Amino acid sequence: MNDILRRRLTSGMDKDVARFISSMDVDRWIFEPDILVNKAHVMMLCEQNIVSKEDCSSILRALDTIKKGGFTSLDATLEDVHVAIESKVIELAGEAGSRMHTAKSRNDEVATCIRIALREEILEMMRELIALRKVLLNVADKNTSTIMPGFTHLQHAQPTTLAHHLIAHADAFKRDFDRIVDAYARVNLCPLGAGAFASTGFPINRERVAQLLGFDSLIENSMDAVSTRDFAIECIATFANTMVDLSRIAEEFILWSTPEFDFIELDDRYASTSSIMPQKKNPDALELIRAKTGSVGGELQSVLSICKALPYSYNRDLQEVTPHLIKATSTLRSSLRIMTGIIDTMQVKSDKMAAATHAGFITATELADTIVRETDIPFRTAHQVVGTLARSGQKPTLDQIDVASKKVTGKKLSELGLTQASLDKALDPEQSIQIRCIRGGPAPKETIRMTKDRMKQTSSDMKSLDQKVDKINAALRQLNAPVREK
Ligand code: ARG
Repeated sequence: MNDILRRRLTSGMDKDVARFISSMDVDRWIFEPDILVNKAHVMMLCEQNIVSKEDCSSILRALDTIKKGGFTSLDATLEDVHVAIESKVIELAGEAGSRMHTAKSRNDEVATCIRIALREEILEMMRELIALRKVLLNVADKNTSTIMPGFTHLQHAQPTTLAHHLIAHADAFKRDFDRIVDAYARVNLCPLGAGAFASTGFPINRERVAQLLGFDSLIENSMDAVSTRDFAIECIATFANTMVDLSRIAEEFILWSTPEFDFIELDDRYASTSSIMPQKKNPDALELIRAKTGSVGGELQSVLSICKALPYSYNRDLQEVTPHLIKATSTLRSSLRIMTGIIDTMQVKSDKMAAATHAGFITATELADTIVRETDIPFRTAHQVVGTLARSGQKPTLDQIDVASKKVTGKKLSELGLTQASLDKALDPEQSIQIRCIRGGPAPKETIRMTKDRMKQTSSDMKSLDQKVDKINAALRQLNAPVREK
């Protein structure tokens, strides 16, 4: 039996069981993190005089060799990446290698590796979210005067602008960004030193390991450190939320690129076609973002169900969380990149948006508001007058308004102060947008301000992201430095 763990047992493991419990296929994701974790742990053991300098150097050299060989150089039949790396270290460094696992368990080791792999992913994800926000704001910036129908219940509701619409999406993605930043603070904490769960009697220095690995602090309680996957649940929940936001804009773009809307045209690079219908240009990438939102929701549900009611501390069930975390992370990251490309390259058909806004009676609210301002009749009464006029679906004349108001109020509004000039203004979608210049409204004055303000936010978000990355890189430099001979 060459399995370094099985001395307690009298036989090798049944092959089928071995495959069943193995996490090797998924552990590719934590191969490099595990090299780092082992290095930091051994360097600390050396500083604490728990292993000798000679043994430490041999182990570090073996780890470098394994890193160079890559994940595929490991024995894939072993239970997981931790055993596979340790076995290889023992093979390369002999007895010194057998000291590497002193004061460590796979339970604190795997939790640390997942946190390192995840933080790398979410730092990149933050970059991708900033890119998406920027592209939305760029298109918004060019379209502060591009009028379009705003919808409620997917029915024409009130006029707005494309800028106003896209800033709304950018703001949702800013909140998603902030949620990921919040989650990051709970991811970048070091569980190592927790051992199996009860810590260790060796005089280790947990703070030192955390610092070497670029963590901001510790998961202090050693039982908590190996038991918790709430950071994974939190991240997947945040990813699922972000996917929902992506799916909503994907759905709109799918609708907008139909002949019925005809508001945008996707760039051919982001379109598919049909094997039978030669005329087809299909938005498959957007449809898949919409569909994968369901899958990420599923990952969240899976992880919640796996963790529910698990007794403390470590249980092998926790291994089953990792694939869902990886899947949710990579799905969101690719969806973000694809959505950014789609928005960056799509053609905006502003003439079609304007035509749709001018057709019909989308300014009905503004007419009711104008009646209130000009005649001082209550809003509900004005709403009733305009409501009866809206039955035709067309913009009313002053005479038609008078007939309707006579029926509802007994008076003609033209006699109460409603003029042709104010009616013309009320019925003009552009005017209706201009007048909505209060904070957050669609008036260009406000959308220009909001775009500038959001652009500034993306720059400061990028700065604090770079600081996080620099901090980690500075910490890891020591771990990645070539092993010094004594
Ligand atoms: N592959 C395992 C996981 O992902 C590593 C920890 C194994 N620990 C144990 N006590 N069997 O959770």
